[in-house]
Amino acid sequence: MNILIADDDPVTLKLLASRLRAWGHTVHQVVDGTTAWETICGTPVDMVISDWMMPGMDGLELCRRIRELNEPGYIYLILISAQDSKTDIVRGLESGVDDYITKPIDMDALRARVEIGARIVNLERSLNHKIEIITANHIQTIRMFSRMMEVVDNELGGHCRRTADLAVKLAGLHPGVGDAETPIIETAALLHDIGMVGIPKSILNKRRTEMVENERQLYQSHAAMGARIIGEIAIMKPAALLVRMHHEQYNGKGFPDGLTGDEIPVGAQLISAASIYDNMIHKGKIALDSIAERLQRIRGYQLSPQVVALLLEINVAQQHALARKMAVERELNDLTAGMVIAANVRMKTGAFVMAADTELDDYSIDKLKHFNNIGAISNKVLIRNSTVRR
Ligand SMILES: [Fe+2]
Repeated sequence: MNILIADDDPVTLKLLASRLRAWGHTVHQVVDGTTAWETICGTPVDMVISDWMMPGMDGLELCRRIRELNEPGYIYLILISAQDSKTDIVRGLESGVDDYITKPIDMDALRARVEIGARIVNLERSLNHKIEIITANHIQTIRMFSRMMEVVDNELGGHCRRTADLAVKLAGLHPGVGDAETPIIETAALLHDIGMVGIPKSILNKRRTEMVENERQLYQSHAAMGARIIGEIAIMKPAALLVRMHHEQYNGKGFPDGLTGDEIPVGAQLISAASIYDNMIHKGKIALDSIAERLQRIRGYQLSPQVVALLLEINVAQQHALARKMAVERELNDLTAGMVIAANVRMKTGAFVMAADTELDDYSIDKLKHFNNIGAISNKVLIRNSTVRR
């Protein structure tokens, strides 16, 4: 165990440290609560043995702060004090202490209590490890289910898988999505159109504007139907909620509930964005460098401006990855007339600056430098390999 001892009495500190080391533990020692807190924030600690009365932060405050930490890994707390009244012990336990021993310290009792703490810390670690395995198995099961959808309907299953990949990327970029939410978003995205299984292809292949009323109703039922299917499993209910909402729109004109703006959970907004983007590329066959214009058209209508900004960020990265295969990156100061731009140059907002295939001249090079000077574009552009003189 990594054990931190905090005690302002150097004799007790030295004695405890030497005993704990002799019992096989790694020991950090500090003489006040503030240093103890700083050590805990910067060093992995499994157990803290702290004196109650210390200069600065006392043992109780230290315990309270440790319990408020939102970090994985339980820290076992033993408080040491000369106080042994029932009221004091209750106060200590209420502040989050696991065990309480009084001075003078009985070393045999301390050793037994440290072993109890080590057992609890190890049990918690083992439990967390098992939860990680169960979570990973859960995601793998969902992926297998999604692959089965792909076997039944290649187009639908492929769309769900790509949507999930993109939704996870968007979740990684969105400041409002925590680590715990990403697996829920991935699960919901993998299964978001499961309610479409059973809807005739003749309806799904139509544009929405071509559908007659009963066809539109059947098509729109897939969101609520999908949520009902996966919501049958208790642990899938959070994902089912996102599935139900994946066709809600920022402007309130989506279905099934007509939610508006922030009423739509971020996870559902990201799945919707990923699905729309994937449909633009795979159904609409829209080229990567034309997607930005399409996204601007639905910004503030189907999707929130914030989510569109994230899609634009991904779109620019994808364009660069594609262009990089046939191009080299050059700093603006290294550009010369005759070089040909390999990918559309856009401002960070997505606004257009210069088209791919533009052959550079002195004027266009100055234009790029100007946009860089005002912070609108980076200082590098992609140039077609074949136009760079070696
Ligand atoms: Fe859908």
